[in-house]
Amino acid sequence: MHAAVVHAYGEAPRYESLPDPEAAPGEVIVDVVAAGLHPLVRSVASGRHYTSDGALPLVPGFDGVGRTPDGTLAYFAGRSGGNGSMAERVAVPERALVPLPDGLDPVAVAALMNPAMSAWLALRDRAGLRAGESVLVLGATGSAGRMAVQLARHLGAAEVVAAGRDADALGRLTAIGADRTVSLSAPDDDLTAAVAKAAADVDVVVDYVWGRPAELALAALTSARRDSAHPLRWVHVGATAGPTITLPAATLRKTAVEFRGSGLGSVAPDRMDAALRELVALLPSAGLHAATATAPLSDVQRAWDAELPSGTRLVLLP
Ligand SMILES: NC(=O)c1ccc[n+]([C@@H]2O[C@H](COP(=O)([O-])OP(=O)(O)OC[C@H]3O[C@@H](n4cnc5c(N)ncnc54)[C@H](OP(=O)(O)O)[C@@H]3O)[C@@H](O)[C@H]2O)c1
Repeated sequence: MHAAVVHAYGEAPRYESLPDPEAAPGEVIVDVVAAGLHPLVRSVASGRHYTSDGALPLVPGFDGVGRTPDGTLAYFAGRSGGNGSMAERVAVPERALVPLPDGLDPVAVAALMNPAMSAWLALRDRAGLRAGESVLVLGATGSAGRMAVQLARHLGAAEVVAAGRDADALGRLTAIGADRTVSLSAPDDDLTAAVAKAAADVDVVVDYVWGRPAELALAALTSARRDSAHPLRWVHVGATAGPTITLPAATLRKTAVEFRGSGLGSVAPDRMDAALRELVALLPSAGLHAATATAPLSDVQRAWDAELPSGTRLVLLP
């Protein structure tokens, strides 16, 4: 079979021939139809992800849509050892297969499941969002942020405020559920004032950026709240703007802010599996919109570093 193969951390994978995978007990061989190039995939392929085990070469890819030997089209997630989904075939534990309802586009599913899962777990499990509450999404212009906007709405949020850098991508978010937008590319003082004006009393923050924009947004919210004792549940999901923040001690005393994280490790594996099934089940009715671009897997080396518009997810097709 053919696969994308990473030989050195930091280098784009090459399209190469590899022996076909063999199924261990409890696994099935899946013909891969589509696999998304998510930040997690890049991070593991660069050796920087906290789950990286240092073993090379590796086939990148965390999830995808594939066809099982009986012809079922299914979503699958997870990787075992060096074998990821950016290959013509992959061995997948049977319990990790989620059959897709009829009529779904495999490219859209491969693009959106990883970002949608991040938002679903953050909103439902880690924030415990209740209908009627309000949400601020930091990094709303990315693939995951777009899903957080749409899923917050789906879960009954009364108000969704979307914050991001890219002006074009930000402008498109009102069409998919955002009530208001805030530019994260504004100067510090303007950004702080805009967050305070648009989102002072939100119940939940879903934070894909961390770093400086999170510091500024936190300062703005904790200064502007009308009821400082009203809980503010801040769920950190990604760190695209930086891995650390400075947290002034007084922030924790002057407001009821609570920090939580959401990701591999803070959500139990059983719950992740269940959440994948919940998400697949709601796809036909939720109308989630993912911006996608595709490339043949044979073109992976070139496509890996190609620039795409904000929030567009590349999907590789074996
Ligand atoms: N914990 C989890 O379960 C989980 C799951 C999925 C993803 N994630 C993480 O969540 C993050 C977003 O994922 P994604 O799929 O949305 O990625 P993406 O589509 O590549 O989007 C990246 C987002 O980060 C923003 N961004 C990048 N650098 C920034 C900076 N310096 N300041 C402010 N914003 C910045 C981008 O803003 P513009 O487009 O406006 O420039 C965009 O909104 C990644 O870190 C990813 O690893 C975590």
